[in-house]
Amino acid sequence: MVTGANGLLGQKLVYRIKSLANAECIATGKGENRLIDQEGYDYYQMDITNHEEVNKVLKKVKPDVVIHGAAMTNVDACELDHESCRLMNVEAVKNLSKLCEELDIHLIHLSTDFIFNGKDGPYDESASPDPLSYYGWSKAEAEKIVQAMNGQWTIIRTVLVYGIVDHMSRSNIVLWVKGSLEQHKQINVVSDQFRTPTLAEDLAEGCFLAAMKEATGIYNISGSELMNIYEIACKVADHYGLDKSLIKPTDSHSLNQPAKRPPKTGFVIDKARKDLGYKPTSFAESLSILDQQMK
Ligand SMILES: NC(=O)c1ccc[n+]([C@@H]2O[C@H](COP(=O)([O-])OP(=O)(O)OC[C@H]3O[C@@H](n4cnc5c(N)ncnc54)[C@H](OP(=O)(O)O)[C@@H]3O)[C@@H](O)[C@H]2O)c1
Repeated sequence: MVTGANGLLGQKLVYRIKSLANAECIATGKGENRLIDQEGYDYYQMDITNHEEVNKVLKKVKPDVVIHGAAMTNVDACELDHESCRLMNVEAVKNLSKLCEELDIHLIHLSTDFIFNGKDGPYDESASPDPLSYYGWSKAEAEKIVQAMNGQWTIIRTVLVYGIVDHMSRSNIVLWVKGSLEQHKQINVVSDQFRTPTLAEDLAEGCFLAAMKEATGIYNISGSELMNIYEIACKVADHYGLDKSLIKPTDSHSLNQPAKRPPKTGFVIDKARKDLGYKPTSFAESLSILDQQMK
């Protein structure tokens, strides 16, 4: 079962799992199913903050594994609306983890590099959380809840995910840069934040491998190339032959966003490579994959 099935990760997971002969895929999301292909899996409307609804669906379906991708993921919105963020990212996880314990379900929970302060990235799985934002705090709290579970749990941490999905509800770094430059818009992009950007298909594959191998504990799943966001934007411009001079390097302070971002995160992914056989796609190759998907 996938939660947040309309999201960036959720959609990739549904398409991945439904392609298997020996697995049954249950997609759940808030509101209508927005995937173009609606065959080969069941879809349930399930608001993860509605505990009664979640209890009903899980007890009916009794999945072996729940991959929990639903979350309030807009970092600035979380900073401005603590209560909604807490309900989505903390309280919903409390309920879900309790149910998974009760029904003996393997919970695969998604987390983020934003649980770290960004002073000493790239991080491995043993690094200590020290979030700078409310979003980061909420995800760190959720991790504590999952880690205290009396049952099978996995935490998959990831970084700056990009990709293309059906009827996208939110953009991501690659599409934002490409779209802006195509419209000849000047964009300010930070050069003091470092990340290991992650192709959405790679993240889905990491979750899928953890489920199939019944791997438990914490796993970092991200790309392998550490770059600052300005560099990422320039690579996107180069790839699509767009005007790089429209990209203006700036710093986090000048952007003045509501939520603080960790300066240098990025992940060490050796554990996932070794235990799961995870193989990230290079950034250059990922852009070529996106080209194919846009045709
Ligand atoms: N994207 C990143 O760069 C990134 C980085 C690090 C970690 N993560 C983590 O990875 C996970 C997946 O992220 P993503 O990129 O796939 O995010 P996403 O595209 O924003 O997907 C999140 C999904 O959650 C759904 N949702 C929101 N409120 C809900 C509710 N009350 N009940 C059920 N579903 C609800 C959203 O529905 P709607 O589509 O209808 O709004 C959306 O489909 C999250 O846990 C996130 O924190 C993401």
